[in-house]
Amino acid sequence: MTKDSYRDFAERYDLFHGEFGEHKQSYRVFFQKVFIENNVRSVLDCACGTGHDLHLFYSLGCKAVGSDISSSMLAKARKNLKRVDVSIPLHKIDYRALHKHFKRKFDAVVCLASSILQMSDKKEVIRAFLSMRRVLRDNGLLILTQGTTDKQWQKKPRFILSSSSRDCSRLFVIDYHDRGARYNVLDILHDKQKPQLKVWCVDYDQMLLKDDYSKLLQLAGYRKIRFYGSYNFEPYSKKESDLLICVAYK
Ligand SMILES: C[S@@+](CC[C@H](N)C(=O)[O-])C[C@H]1O[C@@H](n2cnc3c(N)ncnc32)[C@H](O)[C@@H]1O
Repeated sequence: MTKDSYRDFAERYDLFHGEFGEHKQSYRVFFQKVFIENNVRSVLDCACGTGHDLHLFYSLGCKAVGSDISSSMLAKARKNLKRVDVSIPLHKIDYRALHKHFKRKFDAVVCLASSILQMSDKKEVIRAFLSMRRVLRDNGLLILTQGTTDKQWQKKPRFILSSSSRDCSRLFVIDYHDRGARYNVLDILHDKQKPQLKVWCVDYDQMLLKDDYSKLLQLAGYRKIRFYGSYNFEPYSKKESDLLICVAYK
């Protein structure tokens, strides 16, 4: 990412999450369980965006560190964390180069909400997985999540309502192509005086699904690779799941 592609979106990004510092119960319990079971005390969120999950990990009692490649997302994270009076180290780092910046090791590295899909090809994904692995302690875990699943990829819905409230509706209009997709994010601001439409888009040059992750993570040296289809630990189903969660061990 040479230019900051989130520059015009960072201020609106949090519509994906709701109020900063509030976390859905099932989401919170998922990470709590995984972290307790694996004795996770330190977590690096290597595509931390506006810091929503950093706050969650902090509230679970972990030592959280955030990194991201986008200055505007990091600026928003700084603002969000300051507002709730939480201090978490934030760094501007490409997740393919984590090992050059961190000499220490983490119990867990997370790369959430499709952040790994921003790699242009599989070679770059492996580079990223290798770098994430290098900053993990032995038996440490990597967690990935994304909303695009095998089921969606097969059905290819063009319109998806992401959220809707009194103030704003957010929808995805998706242009699928051979290997990847462009996600257009349309925000309709329901202002009675001056309704507005704001548009932003992100390109995923190549979609990665369950079998791709299995292969690429193994190639990068991960083991015990597990997939879930919900934050209630339901097994991932290519036919049914609307969420793809992957947990892999160093
Ligand atoms: C869809 S956002 C997800 C943010 C956050 N994880 C969340 O759940 O809200 C994708 C994030 O990945 C970051 N990103 C993209 N490429 C990156 C890279 N090479 N290294 C680090 N972060 C990257 C973007 O800047 C952006 O903040």
